[in-house]
Amino acid sequence: MTANKREEEIKEEERKVTETLAKIKNRLLVFSGKGGVGKSTVSANLALVFAKKGLKVGLLDVDIHGPNLAKMMGVEDKKMEVSPEGIKAVNVNENLKLVSMSFLLQEPNLPVIWRGPMKMKAIQQFLGDVDWGELDWIVIDSPPGTGDEPLSVAQLIPATGAIIVTTPQEVSLMDSRKAVAFAVKLNLKIIGIIENMSGMVCPHCGKKINLFKEGGGEKTALELGVPFLGKIPLDPQIVSSGDEGKPFIATQPDSEASKAFMEIVENIIKVQSA
Ligand SMILES: Nc1ncnc2c1ncn2[C@@H]1O[C@H](COP(=O)(O)OP(=O)(O)O)[C@@H](O)[C@H]1O
Ligand SMILES: [Mg+2]
Repeated sequence: MTANKREEEIKEEERKVTETLAKIKNRLLVFSGKGGVGKSTVSANLALVFAKKGLKVGLLDVDIHGPNLAKMMGVEDKKMEVSPEGIKAVNVNENLKLVSMSFLLQEPNLPVIWRGPMKMKAIQQFLGDVDWGELDWIVIDSPPGTGDEPLSVAQLIPATGAIIVTTPQEVSLMDSRKAVAFAVKLNLKIIGIIENMSGMVCPHCGKKINLFKEGGGEKTALELGVPFLGKIPLDPQIVSSGDEGKPFIATQPDSEASKAFMEIVENIIKVQSA
């Protein structure tokens, strides 16, 4: 391929991404300083709450090493279909569409580039070549940490806001300080910090138990001058529903954790539109 042809191709891809982004009003990048803090769980449930409110929402799983949103949503056997208009995202429900790296790993009909090792190119195509339609929100589950991969994702997908997920432990809080610094460096509007696994609701007595020190995320937010969006308690049902592919919010709408997710969405909407 000549250099000119390649340049033209890049320009064309950028044009398609811009065209797609113009149809997506709010774009949230969900980050965490490290893995295992519940970034995917939070991304999935926030997207479900948006959808439940009647908003059109997309969920983009670009966690390259552990794309697990399709399993969490119970759609791992579905496929992204290829049509002349583009590649179709998988419908989770009438308001929620999902695109995940995991769909690509077993799809023989997709262009080679999607299956190949060019991960970043593929991520760009998640936007440029996917027919998302008009969306109110897109929630992007980025790779964990503040290394090269989340950096590339942040650069490829111009977000309107960043959300940082942390747990109340000191190590995780240190990491989320790093994540805030990362977002600041990238000029991303920080929507706020979410404290996940914050206390636990006892399945027997219903009272809240503090497993780890609670409130660290809130303190960090205050210290760094960024909004605090809310606390989600540990709930054993979150683990089992995720493993069974039954979206938690949908099956346990009255639980403390579900209420927390709903409150957080209200806070996100407030901060994003401020
Ligand atoms: N609030 C919570 N209560 C109980 N389990 C949780 C909660 N948040 C996450 N988990 C569980 O913790 C594990 C890691 O969560 P995950 O969302 O995959 O983290 P990450 O994407 O940050 O690596 C999963 O098994 C998930 O079900
Ligand atoms: Mg994850």
